[in-house]
Amino acid sequence: MGENTHTCCCDHSEEALLKRIGELAAEYKGKEGSLIQVLHMAQGIYGYLPLEVQKVIADALDVPLAEVSGVVTFYSFFSTQPRGEHTIRVCLGTACYVRGGKKIVERIKDLLDVEIGETTADRKFTFEVARCIGACGLAPAMSIDDQVYKQVNPDKLEQILERYYEEEGEQ
Ligand code: FES
Repeated sequence: MGENTHTCCCDHSEEALLKRIGELAAEYKGKEGSLIQVLHMAQGIYGYLPLEVQKVIADALDVPLAEVSGVVTFYSFFSTQPRGEHTIRVCLGTACYVRGGKKIVERIKDLLDVEIGETTADRKFTFEVARCIGACGLAPAMSIDDQVYKQVNPDKLEQILERYYEEEGEQ
C-alpha cells in the first residue's frame, strides 16, 4: 500500500472486504426484498460480484447460492467481472447501426483487445453496447462514461481512447 497516492488506512484486502460484506449482509437476514440491496452494497464495496462474494452473501442471508446467482445474472447493473475505470458504450440502435456503429465496435475490439461485455486487461475500459444514447441525428455515436461522442469516425477512435490514458499521466 506504500505506493498508493491516496492515504487511506482502511484494510482493502480481499479477506477484509468479504468479511465486511458478510457482516453487512447478516444484518439483512430474514428481511424481505433485501437481496438486491445487499448485492448493491456488495458491488459498491468489492467493485463486482464474483462467485466468492455471492457465496458470502448466500451464507449470511441463508438463501441458496442459486438464488443469489440468479438475481446477479438477471439484472444488467450487477457485474460478475471487474469493471474498468471507464465504460465505453457504442450505440447499436437503428440509426447508429446503419451508419457504421458496427465498424466502431470492430475497431474498438481490435484496439483494446476486448470483446463486448469485457474489461481490458489493464482495467482501464469496460466495453459495452447500447440501444440508443439519444444522439441519433449525429450517428454513429458512442459514449465514454458521461461524455457522448457523435459522428464517430472509426479512424479517430485511437485518438479518443488515448486521451483517457493521457489524463492519467497528467494527474
Ligand atoms: S440510435 Fe444511436 S444514438 Fe440513437
